[in-house]
Amino acid sequence: MAVNAIELKNVSMRFGKDSKDVVKNVSIKIPENSFVTVLGTSGSGKTTLIKLINRLYEATSGEIFFFGKNIRELNVENYRRQIGYVIQQSGLFPHMTVEQNVAVIPKMLKWDEKRTQSRVDELLKLVRLPPAVFKNRFPSQLSGGQQQRVGIARALAANPSVLLMDEPFGALDAITRQKLQAEILEIQKRFRKTILFVTHDVHEAFKLGERTVIMKGGEIQQYDTPYNILFHPANEFVRRIVSSENFVEKLRVLRASSIVHPSDGIEAPDAPSVNAGDTLLDVLDQFLTTNAAAVLVTDKQGGLLGRITWEQFRLIPGRPDSEIYRGAALRAVKGVRQG
Ligand SMILES: Nc1ncnc2c1ncn2[C@@H]1O[C@H](COP(=O)(O)OP(=O)(O)OP(=O)(O)O)[C@@H](O)[C@H]1O
Ligand SMILES: [Mg+2]
Repeated sequence: MAVNAIELKNVSMRFGKDSKDVVKNVSIKIPENSFVTVLGTSGSGKTTLIKLINRLYEATSGEIFFFGKNIRELNVENYRRQIGYVIQQSGLFPHMTVEQNVAVIPKMLKWDEKRTQSRVDELLKLVRLPPAVFKNRFPSQLSGGQQQRVGIARALAANPSVLLMDEPFGALDAITRQKLQAEILEIQKRFRKTILFVTHDVHEAFKLGERTVIMKGGEIQQYDTPYNILFHPANEFVRRIVSSENFVEKLRVLRASSIVHPSDGIEAPDAPSVNAGDTLLDVLDQFLTTNAAAVLVTDKQGGLLGRITWEQFRLIPGRPDSEIYRGAALRAVKGVRQG
């Protein structure tokens, strides 16, 4: 059975005695090694939820468990060290160099100089900041994207099993954002982290999250896979927040992995393939440009995860009559490519 890295049971939070709950009776389970995104309008309680998990706030009622242990019973300092926390403005200490920022937790843990140094170098390389170039810079001498990279490196320093990320890429331009999205996905897979990631952006939520929590007014509206949220929204609010009535738009935000099926091993040897992280629009593109009966889905290393047949693809709800659909989708794909 899957272990839950984090579990919330009926968690509520209110700040003043007479004010209302800003987090309201929230119950969720976040399995170990999963990537869960939190999507919601401004003021819906996303940051409060993260801070409750991180014990920056104490819940008014309800319980939070970390790998099965009630966090109220854990030593706060020890507990926080097992959780990396990344926020939007990177939260770097302005008067410290990149190296000193990344070394904050190792220093607290009294690692010796050599171990700290090599960890800092390792982490800076991991987030693609050559140590020789960046170590001695101050945060003000970095671009927004570089600052976020340092923030991620710092959060990873003591090798926490869980990362809480609160709109970490919100202030970045689209290209930098895409790069960092790809990198955080890679880090999550490679080091088997559990990540809870807050965002305003539907595309980001669905691109990164295996499952997404949709919040409104402190309450969870739906906690489900991107596929189910798009095609089976729990209520009108969810329908509106993911708002795309356009079928092609939906394909654009869903990953191939969202509908991959086990391979039966009889696919044509020359069948086209996509990466698990590619979108369903890429899958459609393969169908339309190759006329293949199935598209193979592979992982980053090229290992076969499964396949998507045209018949399976056609079962995606909301699709018009197949011929019209093929034509319309083809034009859309071409439009996307040109646009
Ligand atoms: N320390 C606090 N004291 C009193 N009220 C607070 C405090 N922190 C947050 N709130 C209120 O709680 C509600 C939820 O705030 P929160 O920061 O969790 O929202 P959010 O979903 O993260 O919003 P955003 O997308 O703008 O970051 C808001 O109404 C906010 O005003
Ligand atoms: Mg917030």
